[in-house]
Amino acid sequence: MEMTQTAYKDLILRSEGYYRSTPPPTPPPNGRGDAANTATPSVGSTERSTSPLPFGGGVGGGVAYGGTYIPEVLLPGLQEIAAAFDEAKYDEDFLAEFHHTLKTFSGRPTAFTPLPRLSAEIDGAQLFLKNEGLNHTGAHKITHCIGQILLAKRLGKQRIIAETGAGQHGYATAAVCARFGLDCTVYMGRKDYERQRPNVYWMELLGAKVVAVEDGDQTLNDAVIAAFKDWVANPGSYYLLGSAVGPHPYPAMNTFFQKVVGEEIRRQCQAATGRLPDYCVACVGGGSNAMGMFFDFLDDEDVALVGVEAGGRGTKPGEHAAKVLHGKLGIFEGYHSYFLQDDDGNIAPTHSVSAGLDYCGVSPILAFLADEGRVRFETASDEAALAAVKKLAQTEGIIPALESAHAFAHAFELAAELPKDKIVVINASGRGEKDLFITMRHFQEVSLKSYAEHLLSAR
Ligand SMILES: Cc1ncc(COP(=O)(O)O)c(C=O)c1O
Repeated sequence: MEMTQTAYKDLILRSEGYYRSTPPPTPPPNGRGDAANTATPSVGSTERSTSPLPFGGGVGGGVAYGGTYIPEVLLPGLQEIAAAFDEAKYDEDFLAEFHHTLKTFSGRPTAFTPLPRLSAEIDGAQLFLKNEGLNHTGAHKITHCIGQILLAKRLGKQRIIAETGAGQHGYATAAVCARFGLDCTVYMGRKDYERQRPNVYWMELLGAKVVAVEDGDQTLNDAVIAAFKDWVANPGSYYLLGSAVGPHPYPAMNTFFQKVVGEEIRRQCQAATGRLPDYCVACVGGGSNAMGMFFDFLDDEDVALVGVEAGGRGTKPGEHAAKVLHGKLGIFEGYHSYFLQDDDGNIAPTHSVSAGLDYCGVSPILAFLADEGRVRFETASDEAALAAVKKLAQTEGIIPALESAHAFAHAFELAAELPKDKIVVINASGRGEKDLFITMRHFQEVSLKSYAEHLLSAR
């Protein structure tokens, strides 16, 4: 039985935490399509699952992605959040406050911008971008932070825990905590803490405590583990998780809050062009900006959805962060999805020039949609992403975040192969100011050094 149109949106909206295909999918051209062949997942904690059919088999033989694989001590906290979310998503007052805060605090709707000079230069499809970088704090992350802080308030929570990679989710969490008067602790891998220092500064200025995590690779994965440990020690806190990953309800909940992006694109693209996009392209770290862009189009079969993973500097382990294309199914950090693993099932190191894509796992919803063939996956290298930052800046006057630049890099190649009547929309998930010291090192190393010397010598 093939998944009928409308089934995808329904499945996710009504989700109890599993994304399940029946029967095993036939391999799509660019997705994974190998869900039915999954080995028994071996990664990380499998202490508890509420999923009756986690790894396939059973009626229809499909695979259940997602789930709730967590230490027993966290279960009441997650169940409390899941129950509150199930009520809130149908509560008119909650939704009105959510949309009011998006408008008055974050500045929604964000702009839908044609890219005429780039389109002319590429001489292919017409390019448009959705400028999520215009959100308050500079990226899409503020949207699920607003949704979750309202939920935390509804639950009477006083203390928020969060993890962050690029710092955008931490920055947005610190901003909503300050705005709503909640205590905030943000975990960040030491490597990310150093390379995204401007965002550390903003978080601290907003009153958050930022903890640099010294374990493991010192990137996002280690920050997630540290945040879970804090939650185990402080179960009365609210864990405000920053992507469409983690145990249920986070993947469905962050998708639900982020889906406003695709809803706006639908209206804006129709107003600008008289029709829907042919392609929607988004970068994929954990998957929140991609799910935000894709969700509203899942049941429009003529709209192709393309997720772009970090190709880094090669295809060997430790050189990239392409989980869907190079990962294996497993369980880690509370959910069943694709993870980068070594042959023994241990989490493999990741690399990306962009901290926000430098993560070992991916949304179970995207893993499911990849195996269904509904979302196609591609990669863009570090070098291509850096070149895309420069190209967009100098041709259209917009500086994208390095994460978003992966989507642009792929979209430029895609557009070149398409006829002029096709429409390609790219999600500019964030703006590039936070990457100042990374991009400057690549584009103007001498100026960066002299600026650093000036700062250190100035009194
Ligand atoms: C600007 C920006 N885009 C994309 C991402 C990747 O996250 P996600 O895949 O959840 O959108 C991040 C993560 O920090 C980010 O800061």
